[in-house]
Amino acid sequence: MKPVIELKNVSKVYELGKVEVKALKEINLKIERNKFVGIIGPSGSGKSTLLHVMCCLSRPTSGKVYIDGVDTSELNDNELAKIRGEKIGFVFQNFNLIQRLTALENVMLPMWFVGKKEEDRKEKAKKLLEMVGLGHRIKHRPSELSGGERQRVAIARALANDPSVIVADEPTGNLDSKAGKEIINIFKDLHRRDRTILLVTHDLNIAKRTKKKIYIKDGKIEKVIE
Ligand SMILES: Nc1ncnc2c1ncn2[C@@H]1O[C@H](COP(=O)(O)OP(=O)(O)O)[C@@H](O)[C@H]1O
Ligand SMILES: [Mg+2]
Repeated sequence: MKPVIELKNVSKVYELGKVEVKALKEINLKIERNKFVGIIGPSGSGKSTLLHVMCCLSRPTSGKVYIDGVDTSELNDNELAKIRGEKIGFVFQNFNLIQRLTALENVMLPMWFVGKKEEDRKEKAKKLLEMVGLGHRIKHRPSELSGGERQRVAIARALANDPSVIVADEPTGNLDSKAGKEIINIFKDLHRRDRTILLVTHDLNIAKRTKKKIYIKDGKIEKVIE
């Protein structure tokens, strides 16, 4: 089977005036299906850059990124956005929920973008919110939820279009340790249900709960532990 995501000789250089920042240096990497993968490294090591390039939120300076075997360098921005919408679910440190929408509406939104019927969107969003333990909060807006609850809404939203992979960039970074643990438990549970999870963290306590561990330092892969 093809890996969900594959990187071949990927480098990323940021140009800041005359200064170049080499954020990623010739990365080779495969993310296989149904894995729970941690991308682990100190602040500034290139984790977010790696995640963005892997998920085609930004293009590499050189090298290639394959999603489900598709060479993304041959796609235009619209095609890339489509692949991203269908195959990848995103969870961020700051939740990125839409404040004026309820939990239910936030989870329904990605399904609207792919043209799903309202009835179906509502039903699926309810199911997903129940799955993350928020069946009793579907009419709440983000400001009426705790941090841990907001992150659960974000996870439900990430699952809305049945992505092949869920990526999370420091998803517990704004949570206390109890809420953080609960969020990791949800990811573990999703992994048990055959999802592929890609979790970025600088927190070694979180990192130890992932299965495959990719350590990154100064834009290079330092080691991989299966
Ligand atoms: N948009 C950007 N422009 C210039 N430099 C950047 C940009 N984003 C990140 N960097 C630099 O690239 C390096 C890696 O950053 P990042 O991927 O955010 O690391 P991490 O997520 O591990 O903290 C850092 O040195 C950072 O300052
Ligand atoms: Mg980061």
